[in-house]
Order: sequence, then C-alpha cells, then structure tokens
Amino acid sequence: MKVSFHGHSIVQIETNGKTILFDPFITGNELTYLKLEDVKPDVIILTHGHGDHIGDTVELAKKNNSLVIAVAELAAYIGWQGVEKTHGMSIGGAYQFDFGKVKLTPAFHGTGLMTEDQQIIYLGMPAGVLFTAEGKTVYHAGDTALYSDMKLIGERHPIDLAFLPIGDNYTMGPEDAAAAAEFLQAKQVVPMHYNTFPPIKQDPHKYADMLKPGIAKVLEPGESIEL
Ligand code: NI
Ligand code: MN
Repeated sequence: MKVSFHGHSIVQIETNGKTILFDPFITGNELTYLKLEDVKPDVIILTHGHGDHIGDTVELAKKNNSLVIAVAELAAYIGWQGVEKTHGMSIGGAYQFDFGKVKLTPAFHGTGLMTEDQQIIYLGMPAGVLFTAEGKTVYHAGDTALYSDMKLIGERHPIDLAFLPIGDNYTMGPEDAAAAAEFLQAKQVVPMHYNTFPPIKQDPHKYADMLKPGIAKVLEPGESIEL
C-alpha cells in the first residue's frame, strides 16, 4: 500500500489497484502540487463538510465516476450536487468495500457549510477514518480536538500510520497532537493541517521532536510512505 501526503489534509492511498483520496482540497490549496486534471480517484473519502475538506470532490467525482464515502448527511449532500455514486455511513460504523475496510471514528469539531446568503447547512457529524487494507491500518483523524477515547481507538485498532492535525486554532495543536499520538499508539505519525492559512502556522519538525524517536514522519507535499 502506498500512502502519500499532498498538503493540508489530502492523503492518497493506492491499494488493490484502486486510488483512494481523502479530503481533496486542491483548488485554493497553495501547499499541494496536485493538479485537478491529473488526479483520478476511484474513491473519495470525506472526513467532514468544511470547504477545506470537501474541496474539489464534486468536480472530481463527476469526472472520474468516483465513489464518495462520508457520513450520511454529507454523502446525501454530495449526491444532490449530481455525484452518482455515494455511500453514507455514521460514526462507529464500518463497511468492507472491495478495496478495503472503512470505519468512521468520532472527531470533535464542527461541520456546517456556510453559504453566501448567510445560511449554515448542517452536514452531519465530523469524522475520523480508519482505513484497513493489505493487513495495514491507516488512521486519518480529520479535524479534531484531542479526546481521551483516542486511547480506545488505539487499543482496539493497531494503527500502522496516523495522520494527525497539528495546526491549532481549528484543531489540536502540537502538544495535544503529541498526546494523541501516545493515546493512539500509532507506529508512525504524519502531521497534517498546518501552514495552509496564517492561523495554523506550525513547525512540523518541532512537533516531531515531541514524539518518541522514530515515530514522526514529516512528509513534504507529494512524499509517500510504503506500508
Ligand atoms: Ni474543519
Ligand atoms: Mn479543516
């Protein structure tokens, strides 16, 4: 399984002949080198309904006939934008797809989509994602605060690689994300959701130094890890 980081919260997993893309915020994301026209996801997994996570989902899914997986409300909303293949789930639920198993975990965050006419569209609970394929589990935490049940997630699911937000302001900051890494007992941790916007400026190497030696892997956008 090849797992690559593409800036902000974009993670791409290649496994079982499929390309799975998490939170494809490409347009307007100055950190990513991904080009919309080159990205051909078979599957898009969304952690929640904020613009910096939905990103280019609708355009990508329509163009590539991608399956979009998200909490039920968000999956329905994406479907209403004309995306044909969606799969709604809820927190705590798992489903075995032909390319891997997806389980949604809690994430302490918001998820309203703010419209131009000053309405907030509720898009279900924000989520984290446990993705398992080829006997390996990748955890994408989404946007979340630190919470103690991350311990439970770590005890019940051996995590080979965890993507944790460190930006602060909207999510955990580095100190809390270091505690999260402990709770989750992940074998490797990649920091995400930092340096995209001024309020979430962080030094990922400082974060890496807070973890046990060898755990943190700071990936530049475009870099990958083979599991
Ligand atoms: Ni968010
Ligand atoms: Mn975000």
